[in-house]
Amino acid sequence: PLPERFSVPFVVPPVKQPVSRAGGASAYEIVQRRAVLEILPGRQTEVLGYDGLLPGPTIVAPRGEQVTVTHRNELYLPTVVHLHGGHTAAASDGYPTDLLLPAASPTGRRLSGHAHTTGGASGVVARGSRPYVYENEQPAATLWYHDHRMDFTGPQVWRGLAGLYLITDDAEEALGLPAGDHDLPVMIMDRAFAADGSLAYPSLDPRLLETPGVRDPYTAGVLGDVVLINGRPWPELAVDAARYRLRIVNASNARRYRLGLSPGPAGGGAPFLQVGSDGGLLAAPLSQHEILVAPAERFDVVVDFGAYPVGTEVVLTNALGLGSTDAVMRFRVVRSVRDASRVPEHLAWWEALETAPDTPVREWRFSRGGAGGPAHWLINGRAFDPDRMDARPRLDQTEIWRFSSDLHHPVHVHLSPFQVLRRGSDGPGRWDAGWKDTVDLTPTETVEVAIRFTEHTGRYMLHCHNLEHEDMMMMAAFETMA
Ligand code: C2O
Ligand code: CU
Repeated sequence: PLPERFSVPFVVPPVKQPVSRAGGASAYEIVQRRAVLEILPGRQTEVLGYDGLLPGPTIVAPRGEQVTVTHRNELYLPTVVHLHGGHTAAASDGYPTDLLLPAASPTGRRLSGHAHTTGGASGVVARGSRPYVYENEQPAATLWYHDHRMDFTGPQVWRGLAGLYLITDDAEEALGLPAGDHDLPVMIMDRAFAADGSLAYPSLDPRLLETPGVRDPYTAGVLGDVVLINGRPWPELAVDAARYRLRIVNASNARRYRLGLSPGPAGGGAPFLQVGSDGGLLAAPLSQHEILVAPAERFDVVVDFGAYPVGTEVVLTNALGLGSTDAVMRFRVVRSVRDASRVPEHLAWWEALETAPDTPVREWRFSRGGAGGPAHWLINGRAFDPDRMDARPRLDQTEIWRFSSDLHHPVHVHLSPFQVLRRGSDGPGRWDAGWKDTVDLTPTETVEVAIRFTEHTGRYMLHCHNLEHEDMMMMAAFETMA
């Protein structure tokens, strides 16, 4: 039986404290370990978590401060850490074969997954612990970090390996947006639980050591019937009748959400004022009646609960959900306060990437493969090969990347964000504003984006962020060149 919705309190994941902070650099230590948590009331669930938490602790990094996170793997399986949205040097970007092996490995087991990942030259393998270095030379934004292990990202994120990473800067702080306890992460993950309280995921190999992949009929993506917000099922939050900034992060493996508020604000206006997207603040706020959020996308929105009478219960609904997933959390407006926050007309400096008739164009076609055989997912008709570079873009050269799709594929590019130019024959869609690192392709759609890499040479990737598609080879590698 599912727990009653809106019956547990909303929580904010703890902010991680650095072990040292000096001279514009800070150091953090995170232990990846198993833990037993009470996620569903009265039941015990084992997670694989950063510091044993689901989600992991939040890292808050001021822009320009160099952050080193040393991860120690006390699990029984290999991991890889990727900072999603980070402009990260290749060595710390979490290439899927750059494995961090457990401090203590079960003896006699091959731990690298697929034969092709062990056969090639690819991975830089560490054991026990290793540092990941982030320069944070990028604007204030809502990022997240998560596992990226070759072939096993889906089950490892499902079991808990995901957390928030917020970059802050002075320009954003000067705006006067809702702050402090009126600035809240909303990390959405759908999950399924077995009767004994364990997280249920249809892996072919439940130990996640040898055989990758999921059982039929889950090869299109694994969905759950419980919606967790910051690790709690359908929580409720008591709010002031004032503006709140909600940092919406879709950390689900495969589920898309179309979020709305019910009831809407008095007067029938748009409930959301979008202020940011994947890569940080928009140039100007954008009114949204709904927010469509595909896996890995982020939407920073301001909601004014001052537009509701005290006592109102406001549900954050999901028009794409059925039954238990048709809502994700609830707010209860409990008191009126003086609200000093504001949302200025201009939020951030904006540079539109220029394209011209001679701008290089690359095609990336996302489609299902393996007719008849086991399902897999392909880019340009090819399965991922970590040793094959599928593109070699030059630094500082703007390119047009043309993504086309058979079905739904949330496409994510590492290293640098992009700007959506066109969806089909139209301009950008309603949810495409700002610097994006993930774009939601809908069936048979073509989306063109302008992208420019400005720093870091080395090996990176793009892939579908439906984590089951990703694990079933829907990834491509590129190398940025000076
Ligand atoms: Cu959020 Cu390559 O990942
Ligand atoms: Cu996909």
